[in-house]
Amino acid sequence: MGQTPSPIDPGFYRQVLGQYPTGVCVVTARDANAEPIAMVVGSFTSVSLDPPLVAFFPDRRSSSWAKLRGCEQFCVSILAADQEPVCRKLASKDPDKFSGVAHRASARGNPVVEGVVAWIECERYAISDAGDHEMVLGRVLDLDVAGEGLPLLFFQGGYGRFTPASMGAEGQGLSLSQLREMDLARPEMERLVGRIGGRCVASVRLGDDLVVGASAGQAERGGTTTLVGRRLPFAPPTGTVFAAWLAAGEVERWLHRRDLGAREQAARTALETVRRRGYSVGLLSDAQHDLSDRLVASADESGSQADIEGLPDALSYDPPDLTPETCRAIRVISAPVFSGDGRVVVALTLHDFPKPEGSSIQAYIDDLVDSAASLSRKLGGSAAPTP
Ligand SMILES: Cc1cc2nc3c(=O)[nH]c(=O)nc-3n(C[C@H](O)[C@H](O)[C@H](O)COP(=O)(O)O)c2cc1C
Repeated sequence: MGQTPSPIDPGFYRQVLGQYPTGVCVVTARDANAEPIAMVVGSFTSVSLDPPLVAFFPDRRSSSWAKLRGCEQFCVSILAADQEPVCRKLASKDPDKFSGVAHRASARGNPVVEGVVAWIECERYAISDAGDHEMVLGRVLDLDVAGEGLPLLFFQGGYGRFTPASMGAEGQGLSLSQLREMDLARPEMERLVGRIGGRCVASVRLGDDLVVGASAGQAERGGTTTLVGRRLPFAPPTGTVFAAWLAAGEVERWLHRRDLGAREQAARTALETVRRRGYSVGLLSDAQHDLSDRLVASADESGSQADIEGLPDALSYDPPDLTPETCRAIRVISAPVFSGDGRVVVALTLHDFPKPEGSSIQAYIDDLVDSAASLSRKLGGSAAPTP
């Protein structure tokens, strides 16, 4: 009591507080001439549900804040992991910060940055003193999740992204090249679900598992849960898109990971079919329904990984003939992405898509196969190397 606290070294203060990671947001508004203005903040936080309030803490010396301070309304856009360039541009002193930054107007006319994870539109509720900063409270007017992307993170002065703990389990994290593949896959996947609807996931092989490394599109069921980090055993009948282009010895290993009994021949035929067609399809079945429910439940953490083991056995994949009837039953389509050395490194899988009319399932398939081929080219591979 009564002791004057000793002054804290600013560098040490920043170093200690830099141990706490934040997301990265852009606060936007329109000035009196209707020109968009923006400020990047890491100090955004939710505050209250009733009334719905959020806050951020601008530096009193910030010239961006000087412009924003007079605005009655503002919009907070939560940047996605691939938006570091957008962040750097909007945090710069460039007089034309918005050049090259795609944005649109909200229903109330506030700028919303495109490609973000979510946005929250607010009216000014209170501005109060916070030392060399101010505390701004905004009352939420409207908000939405804009995509299924992962957010951009800021930690110890650098940018990064979130990796679910399940991915690092048992020391089996995604390799750097797999993370890079996921990063390159995302825009391709976003464009695909933008055209077709539904959801698209990119999976990679991690030892004896298939792991979802990225996802795009809105879930009709399951709300905003992401399937990223979910695992499936790499064993028949799942993973044909990876297995179809493996060397013979590895195919045998894949086939014998399970005791298939009489179904072994069907699994071999399915591999040939996938190689011939260049893609794999999963058909409507109770098991397919069940798998998708359990994957969502395990992503919500209300179910466990063990719940989905054993299930893929009952799934129905890749019939030799695609009759109109089987085409109508297609609920999942997967296409291979090849690296420069001809290996399948990623599988792009489209699911939960709108019911196709007439022959449009073929259009969905062609679109997915084209997206996978274009990603293959980005990775230095060719569209479909000869088996
Ligand atoms: C990741 C990141 C987080 C930031 N967070 C804040 C913040 O919470 N409050 C703040 O006043 N400035 C923050 N800034 C700095 C401002 O975005 C901006 O760069 C700074 O205010 C530049 O000064 P100006 O507004 O005068 O152009 C942050 C910048 C970055 C890159």
